[in-house]
Amino acid sequence: MHRSLAARLARVRVFGRSPVNAYLRLNGFLWSRLPARVTVSTPARAYGRFLHGLVRLSAVRRQNFGTFFFRNRPLLKLIRRLAEDREWGSTLSIAFLACSNGSELYSVLWTIRCARPDLNVVSHAVDISPDILALAREGVYSLDTPELVPARIFERMNVEEMRAMFDGNGDARVAVKAGLKEGITWHVGDAGSPGFADVLGRHDMVVANNFLCHMEPPDAERCLRNVARLVKPGGYLFVSGIDLNVRTKAAVDLGWRPVRELLEDIHDGDPSMRDYWPWSYWSVEPLDKRRADWHVRYVSAFQLGEPPATPPSARSAALVTVAR
Ligand SMILES: C[S@@+](CC[C@H](N)C(=O)[O-])C[C@H]1O[C@@H](n2cnc3c(N)ncnc32)[C@H](O)[C@@H]1O
Repeated sequence: MHRSLAARLARVRVFGRSPVNAYLRLNGFLWSRLPARVTVSTPARAYGRFLHGLVRLSAVRRQNFGTFFFRNRPLLKLIRRLAEDREWGSTLSIAFLACSNGSELYSVLWTIRCARPDLNVVSHAVDISPDILALAREGVYSLDTPELVPARIFERMNVEEMRAMFDGNGDARVAVKAGLKEGITWHVGDAGSPGFADVLGRHDMVVANNFLCHMEPPDAERCLRNVARLVKPGGYLFVSGIDLNVRTKAAVDLGWRPVRELLEDIHDGDPSMRDYWPWSYWSVEPLDKRRADWHVRYVSAFQLGEPPATPPSARSAALVTVAR
């Protein structure tokens, strides 16, 4: 069935109520009472995929600022390993898209800094929201109720990491160490705008996690293709938190080379994406090695060749550079 027709059917209301939502609620109730050995079984996983399809069709997608420091440790490990391949004293440029309050960005920069203090790391941080970007730029966070972010952003860090990355502010707030904020240019911008790549330039690494899943699949695909233009030939794109059909299609169509190192660990490395399957539209399905395309479908890191050039007419003021 055509997706938009199926989505319309999934959103049908009877006497103001959604039969699909009622069906999903009943299933959620029963699922939560099943033992784990049943919910991980092959038939339950197949049924879970059907339920997740319904959830995605009936969902109203909304962006949010949810993020964590050290959100996906295996992904950080891979980025660290790739940084270790760089020449001594060279420059490494990284673009962070949809950076929210900076938790992910500072986690990556800290990881690279620890592994390779000799590198000259130059970063561009982008978010569509000026308010959250201002928080990221300030790098000061409340310990108990993080400003604007509906998540316990420090819950994946240990005490040593907290001490190494932050200075105490004396009022239940911590500030990212000044050195970590060096070399970052901050931009308010839409990662989907035409001309974005011309303004931001190309980078050795582009990090674009957990915002494309909040777009309708056709919009996510357009945005992903736009984002891919920011990657230097031979550079790396890290993209998780996205509809897997969208990512797989773009990767295959555009000939991206999957980086298979730590594939399974990274796929399962963010508990918030894994544990809410199949009940949240943004959650990720369990890795299924019986799929013929599994070694592309579940990859979150790709090495890219030469991307298509953007026509000069599409150049526009897609970004507002805030400051260094
Ligand atoms: C869920 S947070 C993800 C934060 C971080 N990347 C992570 O993985 O933890 C999504 C962020 O994407 C931003 N965003 C949404 N649409 C965007 C767009 N088109 N361009 C740039 N940022 C966008 C939102 O403002 C929000 O801060």
